Amino acid sequence: MRIGILNSGGDCPGLNAVIHGVVGAADQLGWEVIGFRDGFEGLLPPGDYSVLKPQDTVGILKLGGTILGTTNKGHFAAKIGKGDIAEVPADIVAKAKRTMDQLGIRALVIVGGDGSLTTGLQLYREGWPIIGVPKTIDNDLSATAMTFGFNSAVETVVDGLDRLHTTAESHKRVMVLEVMGRHAGWIALWGGIAGGSNVILLPEIPFNLEKVADFIKNRDAQGHHSTLVVVAEGASMPDGDIVTLDANSGGEVRLGGIGDRISKRLEKLTGKETRSCTLGHLQRGGAPTSLDRILGMRFGVMAVKLAEEGAFGRMVSYQSYHVDSVPIEEAVHKLRLVEVDSELVQAAKAVGICLGD
Ligand code: F6P
Repeated sequence: MRIGILNSGGDCPGLNAVIHGVVGAADQLGWEVIGFRDGFEGLLPPGDYSVLKPQDTVGILKLGGTILGTTNKGHFAAKIGKGDIAEVPADIVAKAKRTMDQLGIRALVIVGGDGSLTTGLQLYREGWPIIGVPKTIDNDLSATAMTFGFNSAVETVVDGLDRLHTTAESHKRVMVLEVMGRHAGWIALWGGIAGGSNVILLPEIPFNLEKVADFIKNRDAQGHHSTLVVVAEGASMPDGDIVTLDANSGGEVRLGGIGDRISKRLEKLTGKETRSCTLGHLQRGGAPTSLDRILGMRFGVMAVKLAEEGAFGRMVSYQSYHVDSVPIEEAVHKLRLVEVDSELVQAAKAVGICLGD
């Protein structure tokens, strides 16, 4: 038995832990694992891959990024921006299939986010033996309570806020921190709460900057002269504008810049010195947290179990502390967003955090 693994989309802390899990579990069954490089691109003739043995994965658990390389562009990008679903062309699929057949791959584990799993679903519907593993720091995939990589990103946000606190307090400033997460506010909400942010602005909750400014002025009046603001990159400005770096980059729309915009407006509205900082790819880099290492490893082991059962078209899923699986179609096309009335949002409000609404 020979199975393949590839990761696709942005890199993410914990990818190597999945590879470690897949290779270890497959080896126990006497199976061979082929690792394709640079996402689906590695499937294109002549094929870019190598055999992965347990000795190849020694020490990778603690490494960020992925030993296989990845891409969120290229021939298989099935997503062109919010809601625009594109299909991978038939000639590309046929070429990749030839590599699968030549190598005798009996199951292909795709470790990816919404876009990559959409490609996986298309391939599964065309008869490929696909097993999905959910990956994204954004934590925005339906049908899994958590994706690996999210916890590591949140830890980076918390570390950033811990550092910003000191400058904010010393200079009596407003400090705005822009964080990733695409169209979902999970990183902003978790990172913001854990990092002690006073204001958290999410894509899911339209905000009013005058209200945020009043909140900051009130804090000032009560003797709290510094304020930390976390804003999700995918939040909309009050006029509905989503701030992008590059609307047409050949893949998904690239978000970024809202932190600066908000910072300037808040400075005008409050009269307080305000600075902004964008965490950017620091959130995706570096070693995975122990939680992400374990989650990634468990996801890899479950992917091999699904292959053993011939449970193709399914995605590994984390629910109520258990790793299980769901049909891939339940996980894609619909982002899992922060629920406005959820207990977590209510808890944030209950401790006095301003969400701008
Ligand atoms: O989906 C993960 C993510 O890091 C998003 O949070 C962010 O918007 C995007 O990828 C950045 O992508 P890139 O690395 O292509 O700039």
